[in-house]
Amino acid sequence: MPKTRHRRAFPRRIARKAVSLLPPARADAATRMARATRDLVTGRPAAKPAAPSLSPAPVYRSRPVMPRMKPKMPVGDTSGWTLPPLSEGHDIITEVLYDTGPDAPRFDVELFESLNAEYADRPIVKEPTSFVAADRIETARNRIGWAEKLVNLRGKTVLEIGCSNGYETYLLGTNAGSDAYGVDVNARGAWADLAGDTVHFECADMTVNNPYEHNTFDVVISYVVWEHVTHPRALLQETYNVLKPGGRAWIRANLYCGPKASHRYRDINFPWPHLLFSEDVIRDWDVKEGRSPRGPSWVNRLTWDNYRTYLDEIGFRLKHLQFQEADWDEEFYQRFENMLGRWPRRDLERDFFLMVVEKPA
Ligand SMILES: C[S@@+](CC[C@H](N)C(=O)[O-])C[C@H]1O[C@@H](n2cnc3c(N)ncnc32)[C@H](O)[C@@H]1O
Repeated sequence: MPKTRHRRAFPRRIARKAVSLLPPARADAATRMARATRDLVTGRPAAKPAAPSLSPAPVYRSRPVMPRMKPKMPVGDTSGWTLPPLSEGHDIITEVLYDTGPDAPRFDVELFESLNAEYADRPIVKEPTSFVAADRIETARNRIGWAEKLVNLRGKTVLEIGCSNGYETYLLGTNAGSDAYGVDVNARGAWADLAGDTVHFECADMTVNNPYEHNTFDVVISYVVWEHVTHPRALLQETYNVLKPGGRAWIRANLYCGPKASHRYRDINFPWPHLLFSEDVIRDWDVKEGRSPRGPSWVNRLTWDNYRTYLDEIGFRLKHLQFQEADWDEEFYQRFENMLGRWPRRDLERDFFLMVVEKPA
């Protein structure tokens, strides 16, 4: 068979195969379309239109699926090259630098348990924050005082995104002189007791159905919410939309690569468990410990660079940025460098960011 014919026959074979996989009505349309294209390109006179069919016209639920051809990458001329000899040994590994066999370290429940025991007397979080209501209220008070240092709250319309039980929103509206709005995807029982003339709550996902008009708020605040958000960029975009021009957002959130980002530091003592172990292993360990299989507790995996990209794309101006960095455990890092070295060291160090961003006036 001449070479040129062989080359031309190959795509035709693929096209025929692709057409054979389509349902009959679509296959018919695809064949007609391919013939028309061929006639156009080759200058062949167009085939006579087929006699009108008496069968009912096919009903398409979606556009016909056409096989896609990948564009060819441009390559230099390699026709004169001397090719390597065909070798019997091309599939045979003759030396191994990294052990991937049965004796290689396995990131399984047994290793997880032994690391947790090893770090039991020096857990990554020594005193986790309390969930007791009185302690949460004290934390909320400190947080509002913290936000006040960087954004003006008095006399302002303020939205708290991810307000949970509503204490910060309450303190904003009752003590900090704001007209305060709290929004969360889960409504809390406490809202009914906390709501008032200057304290309002809404159960909504702003990324799906934003209940607030554009250009409504002077300030947005949010505490440790963004890492739990399914569509973090969309929520940043909606934050931008609801801010008035010149309005500012004060946002603190946990970063994915930080040592505590699994959010399981009440049970897990050693750093970066979510980067070393699969979620399945963490769930299996939960079950072994007699708990329901929770696994790690974040939703998205954003690093600071991802946030920065989104801020720039949306049009926010970064006015203030601070990282909370963890104590660096060099011995642990070196031990698992093969796994942890896959992320930039500066991301592994950063637990939280606190930013103030502005919608340009
Ligand atoms: C870790 S909690 C923090 C709650 C509170 N800010 C605090 O510091 O106690 C995360 C909160 O974010 C809420 N959340 C998750 N996705 C959200 C979204 N798209 N919009 C608003 N809230 C969201 C959750 O329901 C949860 O109350």
